[in-house]
Amino acid sequence: MTTRITPSILNADFARMGQEVNSVPSADAIHIDVMDYHFVPNLTMGVPMVESLRKVTGTPFDIHLMIDDPDSYAPSYVEAGAESVTFHLEAAKAPVRLARELRAMGARASVALKPATPIEPLADILTEFDQILIMTVEPGFGGQSFLDIVMPKLRRTRELIDGTGAEIWLQVDGGVSAETIGRAAEAGADTFVAGSAVYKAPDPDEMVNELRRIADE
Ligand code: DX5
Ligand code: ZN
Repeated sequence: MTTRITPSILNADFARMGQEVNSVPSADAIHIDVMDYHFVPNLTMGVPMVESLRKVTGTPFDIHLMIDDPDSYAPSYVEAGAESVTFHLEAAKAPVRLARELRAMGARASVALKPATPIEPLADILTEFDQILIMTVEPGFGGQSFLDIVMPKLRRTRELIDGTGAEIWLQVDGGVSAETIGRAAEAGADTFVAGSAVYKAPDPDEMVNELRRIADE
């Protein structure tokens, strides 16, 4: 299984975002958290930031939409240059239609589940997606503690993905650090978002490599 580390810029310095995305050349993608004050109680960035960052880095963008009505807004992130767009199952009106629309535009389609949302409703439609994101915190803020209570769902998701035979990435997001990434990898995750662990580290790129090394152990 290939390990992918996708640093979240939520905890980076918003006044120096161009330099911040370029401070992690070892990253497999840059994870961009879009929040709207409605789906989650926080507000971050949107399409203009993605367009601007697209001009200063060649690293793929992994967009995580924590917004209401992703059916209306997700496609604009592909137009802005994103390689992957994640929307929340809890917010989507027509997740299959939206995933097909994103794929038809040439992007990877990804669906996210909050900690209390079960994976089972997705079991029959997993192959509509290129990635499943299992949240290991309640979405909205960086720097929260990893929720071990989500581990059984992560294991079940790995089994369901393996059962499809399709190459679907399994991402975890929230509280991922040198201390917790090993547990998430052992439970079947292969793609890891890390926000504060990377951007609060003295050397963010070294931390990306350290996280990858631990996950691969
Ligand atoms: C939280 C965001 C995460 C966040 C993770 O709702 O989706 O991507 O940046 O931050 P850490 O790694 O600090 O938990
Ligand atoms: Zn995120």
